[in-house]
Amino acid sequence: MITVRKTSFRLDTEHTTYLFRKTKYGHLEHIYYGNLLSKEDRAGTLAQKRSIQVGSSVFYDPEDSVYALDSMCLEWADNGRGDYRQSPTEFVMPDGSFVTDFIYESHDVLDGCVPMDTLPTAYGGNQTLKITLKDKAFPIFIDLYYTVFEQTDVITRRAVVRNEANAPLTIRRIMSMTMDLPDECFQMYTLDGGWIKEANLHKRPVTYGITVNSSTTGASSNRHNPAFIIAEADANEDYGDVYAFNMIYSGNHYSIAEKNERDDVRVSMGINPHLFEWIVSPGDKFETPECVMSYSSRGFNGTSHHMHDFINEHIVRGDYKKKDRPVLLNNWEAHFFDFNEGKLLRLAKDAKELGVELFVLDDGWFGDRNNDNAGLGDYTVNPKKLPQGIKVFADKIRKIGLNFGLWFEPEMVNEDSNLYRTHPEYAVKLPNRKAVLGRNQLVLDLCQKEVRDYIVEQVSNILDEADIRYVKWDMNRHIAEVFSSVLQNQGEFYHRYILGLYEVLTRIFVPRPHILLESCSSGGNRFDLGMLVFSPQIWASDDTDPIERLKIQTGLSYFYPQSTMGAHVSASPHQQTLRETPLATRFHAACFGCLGYELDLKYLTPEEKKDIADQITFYKQYRRIFQYGRFYRIRSYKENKVIWEVVSEEKETALTGFFQTLAAAAESSDKLKVIGLKKGRYMIRTRPQRLYIERFGCLTKHVMPVELSPDGMIMRVANRHYSLKDCVETYTCSAEALSSGIPLCEQFIGTGYHEKES
Ligand code: GLA
Repeated sequence: MITVRKTSFRLDTEHTTYLFRKTKYGHLEHIYYGNLLSKEDRAGTLAQKRSIQVGSSVFYDPEDSVYALDSMCLEWADNGRGDYRQSPTEFVMPDGSFVTDFIYESHDVLDGCVPMDTLPTAYGGNQTLKITLKDKAFPIFIDLYYTVFEQTDVITRRAVVRNEANAPLTIRRIMSMTMDLPDECFQMYTLDGGWIKEANLHKRPVTYGITVNSSTTGASSNRHNPAFIIAEADANEDYGDVYAFNMIYSGNHYSIAEKNERDDVRVSMGINPHLFEWIVSPGDKFETPECVMSYSSRGFNGTSHHMHDFINEHIVRGDYKKKDRPVLLNNWEAHFFDFNEGKLLRLAKDAKELGVELFVLDDGWFGDRNNDNAGLGDYTVNPKKLPQGIKVFADKIRKIGLNFGLWFEPEMVNEDSNLYRTHPEYAVKLPNRKAVLGRNQLVLDLCQKEVRDYIVEQVSNILDEADIRYVKWDMNRHIAEVFSSVLQNQGEFYHRYILGLYEVLTRIFVPRPHILLESCSSGGNRFDLGMLVFSPQIWASDDTDPIERLKIQTGLSYFYPQSTMGAHVSASPHQQTLRETPLATRFHAACFGCLGYELDLKYLTPEEKKDIADQITFYKQYRRIFQYGRFYRIRSYKENKVIWEVVSEEKETALTGFFQTLAAAAESSDKLKVIGLKKGRYMIRTRPQRLYIERFGCLTKHVMPVELSPDGMIMRVANRHYSLKDCVETYTCSAEALSSGIPLCEQFIGTGYHEKES
């Protein structure tokens, strides 16, 4: 609910209040963001007091020695009027100066969300507050939009700049939001990484000066995800003041936490000003991406729940909103580029027998794409691999009983491709320099209309021809040496690229809502809310090693729900780490997302096939909870444990993933703690794991009457057809007992085997 009083603006969600006011000079002063206030609470009481002048201040009004912008908590800020913190804007004003003074002009309370002309927004909000600021010297306006999403405890913010002066306005920096908070010994949490190690959570103190979280690669990036948290020093998963932020944008992003000598922390977020410059002509406007904010005093799980609900309810849209995601098999790690129709059909048949629902043909089906040097940009099917074309192949897959999905990388081109030979001007490169390549490819210039039309036409034709139900949309290199022949001002490139991408995705997928889009960028290089507007799920990482996945999926879980994370079971030893892990562990990490398999099934033993068939049956039984259940990160007091839990909507069923990342000798007992259930009595059942004979190696000689070679024929045959049960425990107890924790049986501590050991 939005309440406007004489000078104050109050935005309430179910459990939070956001409050700011207009000062006597018309600046917007941030007052409060926290738990829901009572109706009687007033801005004057909660505002920071200005009772005495702060030394070395520059005063906004020479007559007023307590009004210095630098020592105020603001909701928007200028350059050159005495505030020395980083301003959300850097404009070259019509007089050539950088000085601005945006003050309150008017406001309006509108129903629902206000869509943008150029960028995607969240939908289904309750109300929007629009505040218009006007510069004191020029008819240049900034409209600040605040949308309230009451049930999910989220408020979004964005800014629109309108130039009504008769000279152009140059924007060098424009943030979507800015807000100053009094410090609580804040810590900043970000998701950082790179290829195959995305979204690892890092914590650092917000100290004096500026802490930046940003990307410059042209995408939201695997280096630094746009989402971040500012939390009080003692916050943990279940307790403490936590502010979470994200942005509906897939390009270069930039966020700061700037702590000044007054111990106020400015948080700003927007498009990265790096290599950015935008000229707003007279009569024109510039829209910034929508930022998403949430507060909880219930720790990180609190803001995660808000963000998860917000994404499931207000970001993901179309036919796949809140819809079950299919169990898929992707052929990439099974074949790479080396496949033919026979290999694919065999894989598909095996997959069908195990319970898979969707077959995805990955890279390599088109042009001369037999390795990653050639073919990107072309869409003709490789006749050696699929002699009768894509439609006939898709029909064969459907005849097996599986849906059919296909991989594309439409934003890229190889120099060795028909597209590049015919249209070298479609690629991003400078006329006077040798191009730099990433994965042997160039980026297509989405600023050009012809390029966007080409992609839309080519991809759409294939989708319709083969009645494709799932698309994996990949993007496998960072953008460099930005230049577009159609732009006068190259400072617009990065943003125009993203606008072009959103246009292409809209044109292809909005008319085809039956297609499930999974976006990918070498894994999680573009895991962001902008992509989630179009693709309900995103391939979280090329790293399917479950121990690495625990870090990646845990990191993502702070901001993104399980329904958005593509998670696959692949072969062991792992392609990315060479680590060997049990099949059960691989499944148990992947089932807390959108489950898939990505390995050559022909190498599985009959025992492993039974194992996978059981996994898929189990997943289907609890799919709704795995994909949409309430997700908790359970605190563990041991460093070698990661514990995830999902709870059904009715709070009657919980599934816990109890993971051990490293074995320790004679490990002490573990406790299973389950939270979030309704009062009542519960039956606790472990999901028995299969323990394969090969894991015991030569240890079998200690329990067998005969000594068998661990690598001998008998052991290999036994391993194919027989496994031991592991981790078999059953209890009955109350929700209260569960929430304080049930001690589990000891695990393997060197003295022998017992099926109850976990
Ligand atoms: C990227 C993706 C992979 C796979 C390959 C194909 O690396 O992340 O999943 O699709 O491209 O080239």
